Amino acid sequence: MANILEIINLTKVYKEAQNEICVLKDISFSIDEGKFIVFIGPSGSGKTTLLNLIALLDKATSGGIIFKGKDITKLEESRAAKMRLLDMGFVFQFDALLPEFTVLENILMPALMANKKAKTYAKHLLEKFGIAHLANKFPPSLSGGEKQRAALARALINKPALLLADEPTGNLDTQRKEQIFKDFAQTAKEEGTTILMVTHDVHAANYADAF
Ligand SMILES: Nc1ncnc2c1ncn2[C@@H]1O[C@H](COP(=O)(O)OP(=O)(O)O)[C@@H](O)[C@H]1O
Ligand SMILES: [Mg+2]
Repeated sequence: MANILEIINLTKVYKEAQNEICVLKDISFSIDEGKFIVFIGPSGSGKTTLLNLIALLDKATSGGIIFKGKDITKLEESRAAKMRLLDMGFVFQFDALLPEFTVLENILMPALMANKKAKTYAKHLLEKFGIAHLANKFPPSLSGGEKQRAALARALINKPALLLADEPTGNLDTQRKEQIFKDFAQTAKEEGTTILMVTHDVHAANYADAF
């Protein structure tokens, strides 16, 4: 199986006035295509930092990030933005759906930005996550779990090679959490998207692939 992501000796040091905080020190790993990988760590352990580095939202102090066979650490910002739009999907703790647009419009937004037609795929994702009946509703009328499923559909609409999820269940109760973990696992299997989730929730491990 091919590697979709390879992290080589990645280090991140934050410099603050006189202090240097080493958050990630010389970490290396690789992820095979189509896997659902979960990193579990307590608050402050560097999870968000790691995802920000992979998405090129922050700059590594040293080390390599090979994504789809290419070292992306030196990518210029316009190309990085294009990579995030076309090749990466993001799900965060809070859904960040736009309240004045319908669920379907929210899901289609990244496709619109990429100039892609995606209505059929959006409908497929709505069905897949059991929220087809909510397509024309506005986000504020949805439950937390429904919003997160809509956010997941939005993250997948451009068929990204890699989905990055940062504490996507941080805001949900236990039952909703398990449903979201299942949705992620099913997505990796059925849509062929590689997923890297970071969380402090040890239960996520039950749904992840072996690493
Ligand atoms: N921009 C920043 N400047 C300085 N320190 C930071 C910055 N971002 C994060 N940190 C520090 O790095 C550590 C890891 O943070 P973070 O990656 O957000 O952890 P997690 O997502 O696992 O909770 C924390 O100690 C945090 O205070
Ligand atoms: Mg975090």
